[in-house]
Amino acid sequence: QVFERHSLELSRDGFSHFMLKEIQEQWATLTKATAVDPLALEKLIHAMSQAQNIYITGAGAAFFIGEQIASLLREIADIFVTSVPAYEAQSYLPTMQAGDVLIAISQSGETADTLHFIEQAKQKNVLIASVVNMPGAMMSRLSDFPFLSSAGPEVCVLSTKSSTSQLAFGYLLAQTIIDQYESAKCNIDRLSHQLSHYFTDDSLQTIADLAKTITGEHIYLLGNQQFIGASKIGALNIKEASYIHAEAFAAGELKHGVIALIDKGTPVICFMNKRNEDYMTAIASEVKARGGMIIGISEQPNELFDHMIRLPSPDNPANVISHIIPCQLLAYYLATQRGLNPDKPRNLAKSVTVI
Ligand code: G6P
Repeated sequence: QVFERHSLELSRDGFSHFMLKEIQEQWATLTKATAVDPLALEKLIHAMSQAQNIYITGAGAAFFIGEQIASLLREIADIFVTSVPAYEAQSYLPTMQAGDVLIAISQSGETADTLHFIEQAKQKNVLIASVVNMPGAMMSRLSDFPFLSSAGPEVCVLSTKSSTSQLAFGYLLAQTIIDQYESAKCNIDRLSHQLSHYFTDDSLQTIADLAKTITGEHIYLLGNQQFIGASKIGALNIKEASYIHAEAFAAGELKHGVIALIDKGTPVICFMNKRNEDYMTAIASEVKARGGMIIGISEQPNELFDHMIRLPSPDNPANVISHIIPCQLLAYYLATQRGLNPDKPRNLAKSVTVI
């Protein structure tokens, strides 16, 4: 099988689906995501430094990206940010006060749940920042600090290139807070270069072959630390595109209940790099002992893996941005091999503009 090559210039005709096109565009869209005005970033950072509380919100994939950005701000910049699903705003609004900052993440900038949260927060004089992909959106107009992802139109219902661009923004913001704006931009540029070599026929074929081995009704994803976000977004991508039940758990949850789900042949995706290798090896061996099929999304091979997908950007400090890409591809092949159109999953809309 010959796989389509990556190029931002190719029309959809060069690809089987927009999803595959948009996944492979990410090497180019990431660089665009760093075209953020440093002065605008500084203004937001100043507002964050004055705020009593900082919140981040979104819906669907954008909420999980928000959670991941919150962890970047915590781990890189030592800043605590509360992540709030937009549809759960009511239980957080009483704690919000004038001068707090609410960061909204959205591809469309038109999601009703997120807009409603913003409007209510504005009534309390909370300052609004937003990271939106579509130019001219309502969310940007309501924002004190509007930022654009500039990933270009995303046609597939699933969020792919807009997710990595939003993560790139979060990484840039966290690094700018610790005065590392220039080096962060360089790391993202290097990541973009690494990605331009990632989507080879061989690596796509490996993932397509792996998808064929997954025949059950459940997939579990286990990660820790910086992989928590990737595992949640991966599970969402797999559910949306293939309709297979996929669930992400913090690896530490395994012994507290999740292990009851593992049976002979249950596919379990384990996210692994050099930093968490010992920890995740111990987790994976517990899964293996119950007959689970271990799929490593990893920087390095491990004897416990039945299958392995290579992570795109080992040793790049910005690699947290790219950890979500292997599951995008797995979701794509799981869907297409079941005869599904991943661009238009059943029951889903690209943008939900009603509450
Ligand atoms: C819908 C889509 C999701 C998307 C969410 C938020 O639920 O099906 O894929 O993540 O809306 O959309 P937004 O445009 O705000 O990112």
